[in-house]
Amino acid sequence: MNEKTRKKFGVDENKPNQWFETLYSKSNEGGKDIPWANMAPHPIFKNWITKNPNKGQGKTALVIGCGMGDDAIELESHGFTVTAFDVSNNAIALCKTRFPNSKVKFLQADLIEGITEWHRKFDFVLEIFTIQALPPKYEKTLIQNISDFVADNGKLIIITEIQQEKRTYKNGPPWLLNNNYFKSFENQGLKQIFHSSNSETELGEEIHLTIFKR
Ligand SMILES: C[S@@+](CC[C@H](N)C(=O)[O-])C[C@H]1O[C@@H](n2cnc3c(N)ncnc32)[C@H](O)[C@@H]1O
Repeated sequence: MNEKTRKKFGVDENKPNQWFETLYSKSNEGGKDIPWANMAPHPIFKNWITKNPNKGQGKTALVIGCGMGDDAIELESHGFTVTAFDVSNNAIALCKTRFPNSKVKFLQADLIEGITEWHRKFDFVLEIFTIQALPPKYEKTLIQNISDFVADNGKLIIITEIQQEKRTYKNGPPWLLNNNYFKSFENQGLKQIFHSSNSETELGEEIHLTIFKR
């Protein structure tokens, strides 16, 4: 993306959450004009959970930056007790309208601020494309705050696109991650236990699914 596109969406490095609210406020239950809305679970996540089914009985899960809510609903269908949050109130309202019979707790919250009540609370944390949706200067905070949600023996799944070029503000959004994210999560007390990647990406050079465990 270039400066013209950043202007079109109203992206502001110092108010990084704002443009999401604007986008979702103009959208609808069909995900109108939301560039990342699959209106289905992310295909890489769906593929993984289909091969690792029904692990959720008695376990809690948290979905970061849940967008239109489909990944949260998928986790619920595997028996997890699910909390899902997004910074956009409008996104959360759309999730509730789309899934009125779900028991998923859809909440507005800001990952940059962190949520202290959720310290080490979740057995399973799912992050798809939220870190890369925020400017590079927030990376360290986001990785700390995501890691903080993972309970002892809990797992974190990250799905992200990767670029070799250094992350800089002028190259996004999205600000695809560099390979040093593995080390950043390990520095938060997590251990990488699974990794797969392929080159069928929309924007980056690779797309990763990586699992960490505390
Ligand atoms: C690229 S979208 C990905 C959405 C969803 N995970 C998916 O894969 O379809 C990034 C999402 O993160 C949300 N988001 C952005 N900043 C956030 C923040 N500070 N805290 C929580 N969510 C945030 C956006 O509103 C948006 O829904």
